[in-house]
Amino acid sequence: MAEPEATTTTPPTMAKLPWHVRLSIFLLSALSNTSRRSNGTVNRRIFNLLDRKVPPNTKPVDGVSSSDVTMDPTRDLWFRLFTPSAASSAASLPLVVFFHGGGFSFMSPSSIQFDTVCRQFCRSFHAVVVSVNYRLAPEHCYPTQYEDGFDALKFIDQNGDVLPRSADVRKCFLAGDSAGGNLAHHVAVRVARERLQSIKIIGLISLQPFFGGEERTGSEIRLKRVPFISVDISDWHWKVFLPTGSNRDHDAVNVSGPNAEDISGLDYPNTLVIVGGFDPLRDWQVRYYEWLRKSGKEAQLIDYPNMFHGFYIFPDLLDASQLISHVKEFMNKQISNAK
Ligand SMILES: *[C@@H]1O[C@H](CO)[C@@H](O)[C@H](O)[C@H]1NC(C)=O
Ligand SMILES: *[C@@H]1O[C@H](CO)[C@@H](O)[C@H](O)[C@H]1NC(C)=O
Ligand SMILES: *[C@@H]1O[C@H](CO)[C@@H](O)[C@H](O)[C@H]1NC(C)=O
Repeated sequence: MAEPEATTTTPPTMAKLPWHVRLSIFLLSALSNTSRRSNGTVNRRIFNLLDRKVPPNTKPVDGVSSSDVTMDPTRDLWFRLFTPSAASSAASLPLVVFFHGGGFSFMSPSSIQFDTVCRQFCRSFHAVVVSVNYRLAPEHCYPTQYEDGFDALKFIDQNGDVLPRSADVRKCFLAGDSAGGNLAHHVAVRVARERLQSIKIIGLISLQPFFGGEERTGSEIRLKRVPFISVDISDWHWKVFLPTGSNRDHDAVNVSGPNAEDISGLDYPNTLVIVGGFDPLRDWQVRYYEWLRKSGKEAQLIDYPNMFHGFYIFPDLLDASQLISHVKEFMNKQISNAK
């Protein structure tokens, strides 16, 4: 009698990365590891010294010009504005409001990684991009980041003239990666509750959003030696972000758990969720996607099985350029639906 054939499925392997990507991952991880103190503070001196920042450029470079716009100097609320230089003022370009990642504790719109990401969004999507500088934890804890994010949007809503004429605020997308994806979600909920005057949000682009919970998921347990993130690292970030006394089942973190707010009656934007096979946060991100669907929202999940947390900051990876095409497709669909 024949033995039933064993079904062997080869698990995906992480893409082989070029040496300069591996070097960058190593340097960025070493930098954040040395800046994160075990007593819950950040060594800003070290971090700011080695976080490579770039200035805006009013003269176009590769078809993109940029400038920094102050919203509220008392709390360092500002954004970097990226404009495609070829756009005529008669054009009607989508507006992308972007929140950068960094565990709520690190980086800014002028960090070279996020300046590069936004520049590429601007050029490839032919969109006006606003990259928001929000205050960081642990100096500023929850809900400061959500308030800064929402206030930035409100500022743009009420001061449309800070944007170039070509920007069409009726075609606005919220976007964020990692902690910025978490922030974009909470801002989207707040917008749906409080409404804006002129801005209309027609889509949400969620790149490997930072969500979590007390429970340990399969991907958190399985993926130990992968770039940028581990259970220890994310636990540290949650701990310094959350108010004292709360745990990771707080609704800021465990967005899809039973503590979560009910969004089924809200006008929540259609959402694109990007996940990677070697990202420990993957299972939480998939749950977020499933929860959006269960709440009656339109959501699409795209999986990059060989990719790690934050792969899109390396534009020359093949998957990073595929990501750009996928996001572009999603945006075009929302724009034509909104007509
Ligand atoms: C950073 O810390 C993590 C978690 O403690 C560790 O796995 C990783 O090897 C460290 N990386 C560097 C470059 O120090
Ligand atoms: C945390 O550690 C740093 C460096 O050892 C120290 O300067 C700082 O005062 C400590 N902060 C707290 C709140 O314990
Ligand atoms: C966190 O979320 C998961 C579902 O994603 C759920 O099983 C768990 O009970 C949640 N915890 C709380 C307290 O919300």
